[in-house]
Amino acid sequence: MARLTQFSMSTLIGRFLDIAAIESGQVKAEPESIDLAAIARHLINRHTADAGGKGLHMELAAREGTCRVYADTKFTKEILDNLLSNAIEFSPSGKQIAICLEEKGGKVIVSVADQGPGLTEDDRAKLFGRFARLSAQPTGGEKSTGLGLSIVKHMVEAMGGRIWVESEPGLGATFRVELPREPSQREPTPGGSAALPG
Ligand SMILES: Nc1ncnc2c1ncn2[C@@H]1O[C@H](COP(=O)(O)OP(=O)(O)OP(=O)(O)O)[C@@H](O)[C@H]1O
Ligand SMILES: [Mg+2]
Repeated sequence: MARLTQFSMSTLIGRFLDIAAIESGQVKAEPESIDLAAIARHLINRHTADAGGKGLHMELAAREGTCRVYADTKFTKEILDNLLSNAIEFSPSGKQIAICLEEKGGKVIVSVADQGPGLTEDDRAKLFGRFARLSAQPTGGEKSTGLGLSIVKHMVEAMGGRIWVESEPGLGATFRVELPREPSQREPTPGGSAALPG
């Protein structure tokens, strides 16, 4: 529990409430057509100072203009925020972080690729579980609850998307999130559910 005690109890409780709210169906995704490229640019700008402070360089590879997905704005921001935070948190100084958007058929894949320590097979098996305590440790003394990716996975799946990782130990990690471009034929149109707290 040593790493947990570094995190404030209110943050921990807030994260648990996020998970409970999504799992219980109290917080539902409210998808709409949104510009993923604009969200990615905004979050990269927000993290530029953190990354620069650790000697990391972030780059967005996307066609100019928009890249629309059918997704919940708040969830999408939270997902990208978590993936960028992790890439920054676990990368040693001097490395690159590449964010890439690709349109494939009816889907868009956003990926966050780092040159950090990567993940072992055992890490990959536990990665999206709660309180994941894996090989990589924060490189700048950042605080960590081990709940971020578990929340991310819930949010991705609540929007009908998929998340996976490609990684070898020592060779960095690439997290990919696939989101739909259009509403699924099978899904009912979203109705007025509550937004995620915080
Ligand atoms: N990009 C990455 N490279 C290497 N290991 C990673 C990466 N992202 C996550 N991990 C490993 O997975 C674990 C779980 O990640 P997760 O985001 O769920 O929790 P955390 O970052 O430790 O804490 P929190 O996100 O709750 O602040 C991390 O502690 C780290 O060991
Ligand atoms: Mg994290």
